[in-house]
Amino acid sequence: TDRTLVLVKPDGVARGLVGEVISRLEAKGLRLVAAELRTLTREVAETHYGEHRERPFFGSLVEFITGGPLLALVVEGPRAVEAFRAMAGATDPVKAAPGTIRGDFALEVQNNIVHGSDSDESAAREIGLFFPDLS
Ligand code: GTP
Ligand code: MG
Repeated sequence: TDRTLVLVKPDGVARGLVGEVISRLEAKGLRLVAAELRTLTREVAETHYGEHRERPFFGSLVEFITGGPLLALVVEGPRAVEAFRAMAGATDPVKAAPGTIRGDFALEVQNNIVHGSDSDESAAREIGLFFPDLS
């Protein structure tokens, strides 16, 4: 079965949206495989967002994502990567459609509540980074 890495980012945890995100995942039919609340080290954050290393917002993004506990989830189901990206909505929450997580709960591009892997290759890499014990 396809798997993806979902993060409820520190803004989502601080705002009490963990239950909301998990409810939506479960209602959709995605199955929880792993879950852990943790605060990322700078090293893990920089590896996770390595593709954005040269972007002007990289420093700010790393500060944000390491700034408090986040909930890391592995979920599985048919086309899990695509399914969760559709549920999350556009990166910019102002452009994200109502009904999506970002569209319903956020306004700022950085503080956009959730992360979802963007391809099966990214999912494999990210699941390996967060949950090395999962095969
Ligand atoms: P992720 O699932 O978190 O990877 O989001 P995404 O795939 O929809 O967007 P992308 O990978 O392009 O960007 C990663 C994250 O960086 C976003 O989710 C935002 O939290 C943040 N980000 C993206 N663009 C900007 C920006 O222009 N400014 C700031 N401050 N943060 C940004
Ligand atoms: Mg991304």
